Amino acid sequence: MTPFAIDCPVQIAFGAGTAARVPDLVQDPVVFVQGSSGAASDPVLQMLGDVACVIRCTGEPSVDSINAALETLEGIAVGTVVACGGGSVLDTGKVLAVLAGSGTRLSDDFSRIDPALLNRRADVRLIALPTTAGTGAEVTRNAVLDVPALGTKLSIRGRALFPDHALVDPDLMAGAPRAIALHAGLDAVTQLIEAHTSVAATPFTRALTAQALPGALRALRDVVAGDRAGWPAMAWASLASGMALANGGLGAAHGLAAVLGARLGAPHGALCGRLLVPVMRANAAAGASSVADCAAEVADVFAPAQGGDALSGLAAWMTEQGLPRLADYGAADAMLPDLAAQGRAASSSQKNAVPLPVETYVTILQAAL
Ligand SMILES: [Fe+2]
Repeated sequence: MTPFAIDCPVQIAFGAGTAARVPDLVQDPVVFVQGSSGAASDPVLQMLGDVACVIRCTGEPSVDSINAALETLEGIAVGTVVACGGGSVLDTGKVLAVLAGSGTRLSDDFSRIDPALLNRRADVRLIALPTTAGTGAEVTRNAVLDVPALGTKLSIRGRALFPDHALVDPDLMAGAPRAIALHAGLDAVTQLIEAHTSVAATPFTRALTAQALPGALRALRDVVAGDRAGWPAMAWASLASGMALANGGLGAAHGLAAVLGARLGAPHGALCGRLLVPVMRANAAAGASSVADCAAEVADVFAPAQGGDALSGLAAWMTEQGLPRLADYGAADAMLPDLAAQGRAASSSQKNAVPLPVETYVTILQAAL
């Protein structure tokens, strides 16, 4: 067996009602980070009572939004950052917990961050409560920031970005609008499949992905259809996918989604879902045997179309759900060679199931266009 490491220092509580533990975990003063609607996170804020500051995230985190939030926190000796929301909120909270009180402001290449800060946080506690079942950001050591000056998204990485506690409560997720449930759920499913087929997959990550994938596919179908009973499995899928990707990497769908997200401003999960089937087909055609296990699980839940391959049922289901195509976000044929080259060079693509030539990345993008 090839040697491997397991890195997950987050104390995790999973299950309905676990969000109620948050008041016992904080040390004052508390900074609360939430999304723009606040629909899912307001009850958690009420549980905390008086907090020193509320930061509202209106979109995906960027160099400017982080610097603005750091200005707001100036003068507060932050004790705890509680981040309650989707991936953008959790990523914002992770960066604020690392940089609060350091006097650091981000530059476009993150070069002003002291590397020591990224690996050992000062005394700020970080608690993550996801309200979408998608990114698994509550158990990963990176935060993705939009850098408009460079026309791309970049990750800030380091062990200090791991939250101290993650409270993964399906009840916080169950009120998600249908489109959010679809996009976030497709992200979690794509993460499970890409982590399972990654060249860096380990016995630990495969134990997570193989166990979680069948339930994740059923839960995705059910929650998008409005069946609340699917939320616990969807929440577990997201959490398991986060632990798996943090310890075993992803693949070409995420590599391309990173580039497309920055260039088109399209939602991450929708891009992952749109790219998943073409990437799996390309990987299988290039000889990645691990794809077949996942394709069989997919076919079990999304019955293949007559004469179609194992993935044809999922592809048809996504179309029925109205999942946008890349062209709907403004992608065009002429952009594909450049997007393909950048996507192939992206960090997630380095762990794709099998190395693919740039022409195959173009073919994948054409299939998703
Ligand atoms: Fe993702």
